[in-house]
Amino acid sequence: MRIGIFDSGIGGLSTLLACLRYLPDAHYLFYGDSAHAPYGDQSPAQVRQWTEAAYAWFIAAGVDAVVLACNTATSAAVAPLRERADVPIIGIEPAIKKALEDHPQSEILLLATAVTVNGVKLQELLGRLEGGPERVRPLACSGLAEIVETQDAQWRERASRYLQAQVRPARTADIGAVVLGCTHYCWIDDLIHDTLGGDITVVDGNDGVARQLCRRLGVPIGTDTAPPLPCHARISLYFTADNDVKSHLARRLLAASGVRMDLQPDSPL
Ligand code: DGL
Repeated sequence: MRIGIFDSGIGGLSTLLACLRYLPDAHYLFYGDSAHAPYGDQSPAQVRQWTEAAYAWFIAAGVDAVVLACNTATSAAVAPLRERADVPIIGIEPAIKKALEDHPQSEILLLATAVTVNGVKLQELLGRLEGGPERVRPLACSGLAEIVETQDAQWRERASRYLQAQVRPARTADIGAVVLGCTHYCWIDDLIHDTLGGDITVVDGNDGVARQLCRRLGVPIGTDTAPPLPCHARISLYFTADNDVKSHLARRLLAASGVRMDLQPDSPL
């Protein structure tokens, strides 16, 4: 089984890790659109065009399903893509429903890109959820995904400074959870937790995406908790710019999470 995983960059690797827990034997094709990253402050029409190009690449590579491991791309492109989809398309959405249910007395802080925060899709999601418009406080974090993407020597210090300056002021006593509405932020969930204070819960949507992928592929989901990560995985990496550097970085991040990649051709095309 071949599964396409798409993001502007390394954020989507966190979604790939979640999918690997449920479908360890699949062959994953990871497409990172580094030539155009970051997506978060682009126009939705532009993001849609780039997402459609990635989708066409996946279809040419013969995948059985495509995971949009990018909240921004999901916001801008999942609806039109699904209208003429050849294979199941699983989008990622901020896990607001879970946060609202788990914290019925609290406000929820949503961190996401500007495209996601300003998108119609988020407004529709909030409108469908009881307490959504009243209790969820969206905060656009322009530039944060870019810091995470660099992974240079100082990136974590820069991310900490950003969080202190831009996110910490939004922390009030009535906030019980923070939802990570951008897959890049999953790589700094510990920093976000530390910045906002010890009693706050950090929630992301990766497990929900992996479960939805199983449902769409007709694969039974065995347990309520996510199975452990496999040690070895079949993954082909493709980045639209700086492919060698980015692929090396991706291998390092996956290895740090405990996953070794069985050698696959970098591009299946
Ligand atoms: N990782 C993407 C998301 O989940 C977007 C990051 C970006 O390119 O701005 O929204």
